[in-house]
Amino acid sequence: MTAPVRSLEARYYTDPEIFRLERAGPLARTWQFACHSSEIPEPGDYTTFEIAGDSLFAIRGRDGEIRCFHNVCQHRAHELVSGRGRTRVVVCPYHAWTYELTGELRSGPNLKVVEGLDRSGICLASARVEEFLGFVFVNLDPDAAPMDDWFPNVRAELGEWVPNWSDLKPLEWVEIPENCNWKVSIENYSECYHCSLNHPTFSNGVVKPETYDIQPQGYCLRHTTECQDLDRMTYDIRSGFAHHDGYSSWFLWPMFSFQVYPGNVLNTYHWRAVDAGRVVVWRGWYSVDGRESDMVRELAVQDRETTVEEDIHLVESVQRGLSSRGYRPGPLVLDPNCGVNSEHPIKHLQEWALRALDGQIDPASTM
Ligand code: FES
Ligand SMILES: [Fe+2]
Repeated sequence: MTAPVRSLEARYYTDPEIFRLERAGPLARTWQFACHSSEIPEPGDYTTFEIAGDSLFAIRGRDGEIRCFHNVCQHRAHELVSGRGRTRVVVCPYHAWTYELTGELRSGPNLKVVEGLDRSGICLASARVEEFLGFVFVNLDPDAAPMDDWFPNVRAELGEWVPNWSDLKPLEWVEIPENCNWKVSIENYSECYHCSLNHPTFSNGVVKPETYDIQPQGYCLRHTTECQDLDRMTYDIRSGFAHHDGYSSWFLWPMFSFQVYPGNVLNTYHWRAVDAGRVVVWRGWYSVDGRESDMVRELAVQDRETTVEEDIHLVESVQRGLSSRGYRPGPLVLDPNCGVNSEHPIKHLQEWALRALDGQIDPASTM
């Protein structure tokens, strides 16, 4: 008899010191969502975002490439840009040092008096960037393996499930602050043991819970299920694409997920950790060219009012419970046949979290 695998100690979800270590390590050395490429369509377009506590910005160069830089001047550290915008060159608001869109220092007032200055040696600090079906991801680790190593086959599978991905643009972002640790929210997203009791709309209206399964695929957790009676869907799912009668999702550890609803409707989850006890979840909804779509808007509202609302109460209650003196980590329900009533994805997430804190993230060894 082996002892049951237990959930992580509560301090992993409550201790600010653990959160500090996560920011210094795992969250800075994994692929994190930055923006959608359609948000910066033209040369000089930029948008700012935050990763692991650092401000960064993505900017499109004259060569069409998207580059990402830490949002800090190489003179005396003023921030360079804020929000979104378009610019010909990046000008620091403090003393007007000017950088090319490629990050090289171009000029600065009176720099000629600085003896021995090698201007070519000054460049904005860049971060690794990958475009993944129109989504821009960043990794602060210069030696990070490419996303296809972390998430094997996901690019090809999503390309099949969302064949028109290159025409899609964001239509709606729904922002959901949750008073819980980011891992509580992600673990809740990654198991459906709680679904039939807590998500009546999702369980009865979209998926067939008895066929629901979640399996690791590198550092991706792939959700698959058969759908309920598709005649009962509240919208027309006949997109003309393969998989229009399916539902699937690809969670890219640690903080992003692609979901495809019947009718090949793409939507995304994007988590940003605020501190040990707070996370913000953005639900992204897309349409062709970002054009108005009653169907997508209605899905976004229905999702916000049902599954999302139901989950907020669950995760916030768990976070309060994790601070209770009466909590001892309980056993995970690991069914050898996996399936909807098994918590094996939690085991993977918790192993990945511990390994990452140990500095052991390696896409070649996810099992
Ligand atoms: S800090 Fe940017 S120009 Fe001085
Ligand atoms: Fe849920």
